[in-house]
Amino acid sequence: MKALVVANWKMNPPTFREAKKLLETTRKAADATEHVTLVVAPPAIFLRELRARHKGKKIAFALQNASAEESGAYTGEISLAQGADAGATYAIVGHAERRAMGESSDDTQKKVAAALAANMTPILCVGEATRTASAEYFGVVKEQLRIGLADISSSQLGSVIISYEPVWAIGGEKTMSPRDMHEMAIFIRKTVVELHGEKGMGVKIIYGGAATESNAANMLRDGDVDGLLVGHVSVDAPRFAALLQAIEDAT
Ligand code: PGA
Repeated sequence: MKALVVANWKMNPPTFREAKKLLETTRKAADATEHVTLVVAPPAIFLRELRARHKGKKIAFALQNASAEESGAYTGEISLAQGADAGATYAIVGHAERRAMGESSDDTQKKVAAALAANMTPILCVGEATRTASAEYFGVVKEQLRIGLADISSSQLGSVIISYEPVWAIGGEKTMSPRDMHEMAIFIRKTVVELHGEKGMGVKIIYGGAATESNAANMLRDGDVDGLLVGHVSVDAPRFAALLQAIEDAT
């Protein structure tokens, strides 16, 4: 099975010139792999041109965020339809950094449904801010899933990706252990089954939070996940190439 790797560039790089270079090295690294499906989520302002240069190649594109509204007076926002028109086929929804800026689970609920209506694959991000021994983080994740997936039907579950990202791991160098991820993957599946029935067993889950060239293969092997969402390592061309190669070598 192919691993889904989502390269979330966040607000990087500063210029289109650098973005082109980064996409080119990323593409070369991706071309050397057979077991990776690569999705690049560049800053939206670079999306159309990057996509135009890579038409027909094996990279798909994602929005890092989008409005759930169709159009209108929403200064600074980008609609899903506009993202789709620019070439995005995936949309990240409810990333921890967006939630930290005020996005609520209710917002994610609307965005997941709107992305599906726009024929895009929503990547719904869930994950707790902190972990304590009392394990209330399971409740946090359950609530994010319950609200985020409330407006979809069970037949749409196959078109949704859940990205589990413990906020405490994002941006660092240390992932959580694949064993803990495995436990969380089981919990996520169980929760989605409770919400949407047996089809939930097949929901695609990826892991995000300090995924690096050193831990990617282990996480895919033992973490019970279908892929990874990669932040800072995805904008460091040599490290990202090493990450893709590590996955390739392990499959
Ligand atoms: P990171 O970001 O790889 O830099 O930790 C991951 C994420 O944004 O989920």
